[in-house]
Amino acid sequence: MQATQQEVWWVRKRDELLKVAEENLNAYVYDLETIERAALDMLSLNSVSRVLYAMKANFNPDVLRTLANAGVDFDCVSPGEVTHLRDALADNAAGRILFTPNFAPREEYAWGIKERLRITLDNLFPLKAWPELFAGQRLFVRIDPNHGGGHHEHVVTVGKRSKFGVSLQELDELVELVDAANATVIGIHAHSGSGILEPENWRAVAGALLAAAERFPEVEVLDLGGGIGVPDKRGDPAFDLPALDRYLAEFKASHPKYELWLEPGRYLVAVAGVLLAHVTQLKGKGNMQYVGVSTGMNALIRPALYNAYHEIVNLTRIAEEASERVTVVGPICETGDKFGSDRPLPPSMENDVVLIATVGAYGRAMSSSYNLRDIPREFTI
Ligand code: LLP
Repeated sequence: MQATQQEVWWVRKRDELLKVAEENLNAYVYDLETIERAALDMLSLNSVSRVLYAMKANFNPDVLRTLANAGVDFDCVSPGEVTHLRDALADNAAGRILFTPNFAPREEYAWGIKERLRITLDNLFPLKAWPELFAGQRLFVRIDPNHGGGHHEHVVTVGKRSKFGVSLQELDELVELVDAANATVIGIHAHSGSGILEPENWRAVAGALLAAAERFPEVEVLDLGGGIGVPDKRGDPAFDLPALDRYLAEFKASHPKYELWLEPGRYLVAVAGVLLAHVTQLKGKGNMQYVGVSTGMNALIRPALYNAYHEIVNLTRIAEEASERVTVVGPICETGDKFGSDRPLPPSMENDVVLIATVGAYGRAMSSSYNLRDIPREFTI
């Protein structure tokens, strides 16, 4: 199931993309078929009862509707996300939402309870400080499984240097606080990091969550979180979804009383999105060649923030030989405003259309108006 040069949607739909670029200096474009296919692949995992889309990755309303129609549910981390989702779906959708705020004020939990959302606590503090809020509530608790990883230290969400989750050492206290609050724990939740390419990770997470689940007789669900990786480069091996299914099936065979849920963001939307921009200026400096494009780290901060790799192609000259090695930069007043260094590209000219790949996750969602540059418009095809 590996993506080849021919199969990548943005090569197949190049003409449509160039048309969008004719009328827009910069644009995010999402391919809804690719999103639907990723959702159906993940929903077809035999041992997974629910797939919740972590909508922080991309909150475009068409993307949300496509995923909802495919049968995916949602992980929301703020009242803003819940409200936006409801508007996009024209549906209250309470039964499809897991509300997972982090270090949020008391009012957000009170709001979530009033809205009848499933709520995840990821700290003992709410139970200690506001036990009255949770009386009679059926809760999820996010545990730090102390096992995980990630493509960059900023996205590793386990271990004592990560602010997330109740540590396994705090289980006794958790049991006491839940009892004292007269609440019930029905789900144990984890998110072990982002951009993890080894399917074994979720087997280990499931194993680590058992210790917590076994302390609460009413637990029905183990939510193993997201973080399922997507290869950066075409030709790199795809995430081995069948292997994940096998590992989870083995786990489920020995622990049949638990439903298993997954919570992917990136896997569902990353490859389905591209960022289009135009070449603005060219510069040689010493032995460096710079190609300037019309949007920058304000539209995609991942290279600057995580040193993330995003493939870059000159869409206008896609058939030409990549005979130069260049650094692709934007118009933002920071040295870190680079989409990629030492990249093979054909000789570029002013106004060529440049495509930055794998921008469907955490692209627009993390954009800003830094330097008062416009955030590119979004299109779906
Ligand atoms: N569930 C929870 C509770 C999360 O915090 C996250 C992501 C996810 C699921 C989805 O993770 P994913 O499947 O997308 O890896 N901005 C970073 C990623 C930050 C992820 C934060 N939490 C990036 O661009 O790589």
